[in-house]
Amino acid sequence: MALVGTLSFFVVVAIIARHGPRHPNSPPTTSSIGAPLDDPVVAARLSVDALFARQSSNIDHAMARYSLKTGRPPPRNYDKWFSFAREKSCLIDDYDQVHRDFKPFYQLAEEDPSFFQRRLDVALALMKENRKGMDNVVIKDGMVFMPEGHSNDYWDTWPITFSQFSAHLPDMTFLISGHDQPRVAFDYRAPGAMHKALALEEEIPFSASPHPTSDWFRERTGCNIPRSLEGFFSSANDDSAFFISSAKTEFTVDLYPVLSMSKVSPCFADILFPIEYYYERSWWSGKVAYPNNIEWKDKKSQICKSSLNSVNSDFVLIFFGLDWRGSSTGGQVFGFNYRNFTRFKLVEFAREHADLVDVAITSFSDELCGSECDKETIMREYNISGHGRPREDEYLYKYLLDVDGNAFSGRYLGLLRSGSLVFKATVFEEYFNDWLRPFEHYIPRTA
Ligand SMILES: *[C@@H]1O[C@H](CO)[C@@H](O)[C@H](O)[C@H]1NC(C)=O
Ligand SMILES: *[C@@H]1O[C@H](CO)[C@@H](O)[C@H](O)[C@H]1NC(C)=O
Repeated sequence: MALVGTLSFFVVVAIIARHGPRHPNSPPTTSSIGAPLDDPVVAARLSVDALFARQSSNIDHAMARYSLKTGRPPPRNYDKWFSFAREKSCLIDDYDQVHRDFKPFYQLAEEDPSFFQRRLDVALALMKENRKGMDNVVIKDGMVFMPEGHSNDYWDTWPITFSQFSAHLPDMTFLISGHDQPRVAFDYRAPGAMHKALALEEEIPFSASPHPTSDWFRERTGCNIPRSLEGFFSSANDDSAFFISSAKTEFTVDLYPVLSMSKVSPCFADILFPIEYYYERSWWSGKVAYPNNIEWKDKKSQICKSSLNSVNSDFVLIFFGLDWRGSSTGGQVFGFNYRNFTRFKLVEFAREHADLVDVAITSFSDELCGSECDKETIMREYNISGHGRPREDEYLYKYLLDVDGNAFSGRYLGLLRSGSLVFKATVFEEYFNDWLRPFEHYIPRTA
């Protein structure tokens, strides 16, 4: 089964928001009553129910499970984490993504106990000269200390986020990237990777800034992304603006412990964390009074009843009535390369299928338009009006489409909360990927 963004590329996913018990306002889904047991929808629903049911209900179980999963005792204050998670109705045991992201570092520590600290020291020394779009966050006596000087869009909100749990953290310093894109282009699954990780290839890390990025990625192991997991290999790199011409670069090819918002595996080895945009308090997050607040029957749909009935069986039909508005973000424009960027291709698709999809690019990203970019031509070619609309207007529609911009799409969780049915195309992994289930939250398809 293809998982979003892990191995398969451009998995188109249909997400059905699930917030506790099924609500009468929820989108129609296949009923599990009377459905055959080999129905993947039923199997997915049961697997989600089982996931919640099997969470540890006391701290002893939780600690035992942690040790069993990782082969080491839980970190200090695990009892406090346990209570924190219970209070917030979070999962207790299922955090495989973060275990996976840290695993190479634990393995390296067995070879060289000072590895982690030495890498940190190299990066910190560099950042005294040039922050490279990263911050070194210090936790001391339960308090959060940011470096001096505003360095990125998140510099002033990260302390608010971290201070909600910093009291439970030991003293530490960590590196966190302010770029939407991943930074650590190191495939730890490649042959000889451990040896390579222990040596340093670059004199100055985080300075690999190829322009454009397509050939550079093609030559790196783990960075040729298969279009489909089945059948013969064909690379899907040309379908992603990030791979064609990444909006931000400053990659390193050595292994450094960096917290990032998204990555593509196995090309990158960043440690994932949730982006600020997803928090309700963010200016950027779409505001929903409460999950599924607009009744399904009151949402707009251009779909006729007969095609709606086909949603679960015929993927092609579900493009009917999809609506999308967004900015031209994607990658650095270089000649005509933008025509291959996801969002521009979506406009092309909509032009050919105006009866199916309503798509418009509403604003132009000047910062992605350098010397080899002709803004006027692009604005004309794609009819970019400059007139956006409130993010929340999207929630009035039954069917929504979400595609990558410069990296992941930050509107995604808002779309899920809205109770609309979301179709998602992405190459990126985010911190929540393990929790999304095919046929419960999405229907996986390669595009
Ligand atoms: C778009 O990508 C294809 C390969 O998938 C390439 O042949 C073509 O030249 C690209 N177009 C532009 C305008 O870069
Ligand atoms: C261009 O956009 C405007 C407003 O956004 C719209 O009214 C017009 O129909 C569009 N033209 C084309 C050719 O798509």
